Amino acid sequence: MINMIQDKLIKWYKENKRDLPFRNTDDPYKIWISEIMLQQTTVAAVIPYYERFINRFPTISSLSKADLEEVYKLWEGLGYYRRAKHIHETSKILMEKYDGIFPNEYEDILSLKGIGPYTASAISSFAFHKSYSAIDGNALRVLSRVFEIKENIALNKTVKMITELSNKLIVDHDSSSYNQGLMDLANMICKVKNPQCTNCPLSDDCLSYKHHSEKLLPISIKK
Ligand code: ADE
Repeated sequence: MINMIQDKLIKWYKENKRDLPFRNTDDPYKIWISEIMLQQTTVAAVIPYYERFINRFPTISSLSKADLEEVYKLWEGLGYYRRAKHIHETSKILMEKYDGIFPNEYEDILSLKGIGPYTASAISSFAFHKSYSAIDGNALRVLSRVFEIKENIALNKTVKMITELSNKLIVDHDSSSYNQGLMDLANMICKVKNPQCTNCPLSDDCLSYKHHSEKLLPISIKK
């Protein structure tokens, strides 16, 4: 079984994926900007901001030379303005420390301001095709249901366990399609309420579907 879920997910993604502007590139700079925008903002709201931003600042170098005020202006309406300040600062660091070339090592990416394990994994897989699972609340929901994991996903140890399990599935697979497949499946099929299990490419393998527990999972109890 363990070798099939990821293949089914990737096949489904290729046939059903949302056509999003930041998916038509493997430029780590553009992926980084989109992932920062997507951290607290919906896909639909991000698209026009992403396009304007990349038009004005197509490269790390162009962003590093900008006035912070102009970066804030392009961010206006997106909220969480600290994100704009961080990317502006980081663009200068990328020029100084990495000669303007976005680093491809996971630990280097993780060390940048505003980038946690989820975003570092997303950039590593989308831009560099490395085997890192991008685990956010959506991925936790899908994987908890597929494997009928009844642990509390609000606990770090559960996130770690699910990340390790997912990293095993992703090895030797198209990690970009796997990660974005989880995102689209969570968004289109494996929804919080009313999951569309009869349309799900993973229903034959899904333990919670088999045991009718899909609506009870994931378990998330915040202390
Ligand atoms: N949320 C964060 N990154 C995303 C992506 N690449 N596609 C869809 N939703 C996302």
